[in-house]
Amino acid sequence: MTEQFQFTTTDDAAEAADTSVFDEQTRSEAQQIIARYPEPRSALLPMLHLVQSVQGHVSPAGIQFCADQLALTTAEVSAVATFYTMYKRKPCGQHLVSVCTNTLCAALGGDAIYKTLGEHLGVGHDETAGTPGEEGSITLEHAECLAACDLAPVLQVNYEYFDNQTPEQALELVKALQRGEKPAPTRGPALSDFRGAERQLAGFFDDLESTVAGPSAAVETLRGAQLAHERGWTAPSMPDDVELPPVPEKK
Ligand code: FES
Repeated sequence: MTEQFQFTTTDDAAEAADTSVFDEQTRSEAQQIIARYPEPRSALLPMLHLVQSVQGHVSPAGIQFCADQLALTTAEVSAVATFYTMYKRKPCGQHLVSVCTNTLCAALGGDAIYKTLGEHLGVGHDETAGTPGEEGSITLEHAECLAACDLAPVLQVNYEYFDNQTPEQALELVKALQRGEKPAPTRGPALSDFRGAERQLAGFFDDLESTVAGPSAAVETLRGAQLAHERGWTAPSMPDDVELPPVPEKK
């Protein structure tokens, strides 16, 4: 496919042409990401995170940068960037607060948490309170299941977990973020900010030791394995030889 992504405004097109915001270090890191894969195009997802670590979102210039680095069309890059919710098309706040409003969390208080934070910040989904990127600015979003249902209701700040939250706790957390504080997540490493988290998602850990220093598993999550251990329950082992279903021939 050779079709190019059509930028929506003249300003977007002009911005896309200028990728100078991505300096030599970023270009060198882009090459490091590409070198991890047999095909350059496979590096697109971490490349988009690298772009967000620089700009706080995926701008038209970011799309152009990825396309240039990976020999893709801007249409191909844009199709991916607009598909996944982790890629932000508008500048993100210093912190991204994601409140799980999927069924279990919603029923246990996630909806109330989202409503409380939305009213306090005066914003709705995917909107930012404060000036994006500046200290204390917060982007709020509701999220689908964050894979921590045993700890519901949960929210994340820059993808780090705050478990078993109440509206009051969540409000105190957000007020602390607005004051420039960085409360410790329930699990995982110390909080950085959205751009710092994006840098890690691109695969760059400037301080690996602290990144893996926090608690990683909750008691609730390990409860099943603990019970099985105490009661001597085991699952049947996999047989060494398993007959696999036939794979249809590719045409
Ligand atoms: S429903 Fe919220 S983490 Fe699964």
